[in-house]
Order: sequence, then structure tokens, then C-alpha cells
Amino acid sequence: MSTQFKQIAGDTYWVGKIDNRQVPFHRLILAKGTTYNSYLLKTGKPTVIDTVDMEFGREYAECLAGMIDLMDIHYIVINHTEPDHSGGLAALASQALNATIVCTEIAVPELQEMYKLHSRNFLVVKDGDTLDIGGKTLLFKETPYLHTAETMITYCIEDQILFPCDIFSTHVAVENLFSDEAGFDITEDYKGYYAAIIHPHRRYVRTLLEAVKDMDIRMIAPSHGFLIREDIPKFIDLYATMSRETTQGKKAVIVYTTIKNSTKKMAKIIQDCLQENNIGTEVWDADKSSTADILNSIASADAVFIGSSTKYADMIGNLEDVLKELQHMNLEGKLAASFGSYGWSGEAIEVIQDYLNGTNMTVQSTSEVIKTTGMTHVEFPVRVRFSPKEPEKVQKIKNAAEFVSDLLLSSI
Ligand code: FEO
Repeated sequence: MSTQFKQIAGDTYWVGKIDNRQVPFHRLILAKGTTYNSYLLKTGKPTVIDTVDMEFGREYAECLAGMIDLMDIHYIVINHTEPDHSGGLAALASQALNATIVCTEIAVPELQEMYKLHSRNFLVVKDGDTLDIGGKTLLFKETPYLHTAETMITYCIEDQILFPCDIFSTHVAVENLFSDEAGFDITEDYKGYYAAIIHPHRRYVRTLLEAVKDMDIRMIAPSHGFLIREDIPKFIDLYATMSRETTQGKKAVIVYTTIKNSTKKMAKIIQDCLQENNIGTEVWDADKSSTADILNSIASADAVFIGSSTKYADMIGNLEDVLKELQHMNLEGKLAASFGSYGWSGEAIEVIQDYLNGTNMTVQSTSEVIKTTGMTHVEFPVRVRFSPKEPEKVQKIKNAAEFVSDLLLSSI
């Protein structure tokens, strides 16, 4: 079925593609298909909000051309650059030659590279900015990591319509646009979408809830599945409930050896971050503690961070005794991560990672983080060159500790 359009309020139109194939998506198969929802606001300065999947870009542009002279489009708002949202931009922008592309700063180079738009006009918007689109006003709120760094949401102040891109979506290929016309309760589909796409980023749901708490929302018009105009507080509250941390009483153990205190400082940053997230901590300098005490502590931990400075391409001090013993313990269900400061290559950190991989703990790695969440700002092992005093180094360590905290405190 080709791209369609439908009036959803006053001068606001849904322009979308219903895709009822079981397509692969984020390592899922969308069993019920999905829809790609774009919106046209026929205001004094006609504005398009998001597009459709790149596979359907040409038919999407043709559909829009049946609704409006594409040369009259003033703005194209891109809330999120993933190609199921921005994919129609190449076909649209090549005909909507007067349109300015509106997005966050991070999104600009991504869109320029993806669609060869280096010569186009971009308008960068920041959190809280507004834009007059000719009789209506759009308000933009940045929602980073929901679920990628450049993401924002758009709210039409006069119409009280929220365009939250992936957020508040469902993956269901349906003819009836609105959830209240579905003929069934969409709650399970809504929760399933949240669990698959949003939950790995639940830390950032708090930012979202803060952003929308003072908005009077009459309609939620997301990028996938149903539009919501009834029980809106219930659906927003579900995000609050599902992202809440309910599992308290968790403990993490941090074990390290250090040459000049840089790895010790890393351990302290990890400890502080875990404690801020209500994770209990026990910290051991392996050169000043008995191996038996450390192993007992690890045996009752939920997560283990092990770090060493690197000297002559290896670990230092007594850490290897601990790591060897761990190979013989049943540590199933525990999370593990390695870290360390280094000056040249940081071999010790990789050796620790190898030892951890020899246990039956769930060892954190950058590869797994990317595969399971798409996050690229969280790195394991946590490697820092020299002292962790610069803010970006501290942030890198915190990102890792927060990630482990979130895993420990997940409510679903
Ligand atoms: Fe709907 Fe992030 O893709």
C-alpha cells in the first residue's frame, strides 16, 4: 500500500507508510509490522515533521506533492536521524528546494553526510527554542539518548500536539490511526515497544518526563504506530512507571592496584557514581588487602569492577592472585567490568578483561553495549590515559558506572 495522508487536526496531516512486513529492526523482527508517521502542518510557513523509512522516500515525496507544492514547504523538522525517520529527506529535499532543515546541532553533520545535504540551509535548535511557522509555534525539547544522541521532540503550542518521534510509539501496522479506534487495548503493544527500544535508555526518560510535565498535550503523534488522544496521562505515566528503579539493595565491589594513584582515582569516581545511584560499594586495594577478604566480598556482590595500572605491559601488584581464584568460583549472575589508567598501551586492562571473560560473570564490553542498546558513549573496558582529571575522562568513567547501575536497578 502506498504512502497515504489523513487530516488529524485543523491544518495538521498525517502522511505515513503502513509497513505490514515482518522487517528486521534493532535485532528484532517486527512481528506486527510498523508504520512510519510523518506530519505536514499546512500553516503560513508549511512545515513537515519527520519523514518515512528511506525505502519509501520517493513515494512519500510524491504523496506530499499531491497535498502541497513542495516548493512552498518552509521547514522540514527532523527529530531523529535514524533512516526510518529521516529516510524520506533525500527525496523530499531534492524537490522542496526552499525548505530549511530544522534539527539539533548533533544531527546536522549526520543528515549532511547521510543525504548529501552539505549545501542546504539548516536551522539548529536547542532545548526550549521556539519557531514561528506562520500562525503556529513549535517548541523543541532535546531528549538525548531517547534513543540516540541527536534526538529531540517537537510540540505545537497552539494545537497542543506532541511529536515525540520514537518515544510513545508502538510497532503495529494498522489502518486506524488512533489508539481509541484500534478496537483493542494497545497497552501491551505500547509496553512492548518501550521494553525493546526505550528501556535500555531509561536513565534519560527522566529528562523526557521533565520536558513534557508542563505541556498541555491534546494529542501524541509519534513516529510509529498509534496516535494517542485519549488517556494521555496514563500512557505518559506508564513511561514513568516502567523506567522507575525498583530493585534496591544492590552491591558492587571495586578492586584495584595502582602505581601513582590514577587507577585509584578511577576507582573513587566509580564508587562515587555507584553510591549516587544507591548502589552499595566495597572498595579494595589488592596490595593492601588479603585475597581471601576480597574474594569473600566479591562472592556477595552483584557487580565487580577490577582495575590495574599498566607497567611493562602487565598488571601490577597482587591482582593476578584474585583473578586466578575467580576462575574457580561460581559467579553466575554477576556483572563484571575492567578498568585502568595507563601511559602507553594499557595492556593490563585487556589482560583483566581476558581473566573476567574466563569466569561465568556477564562481562561488559563496548561491543555488547552497542549491540544491545545502540549507545556509543559507553565504553568497556574503561581505559583512561594518565590521571583522570579532565572532565571528559571523568565523564567516560561515570558513563560506565551509570550503565552498570542502570543494569542493577532495572525494574523490568
Ligand atoms: Fe524509529 Fe530510532 O527509529
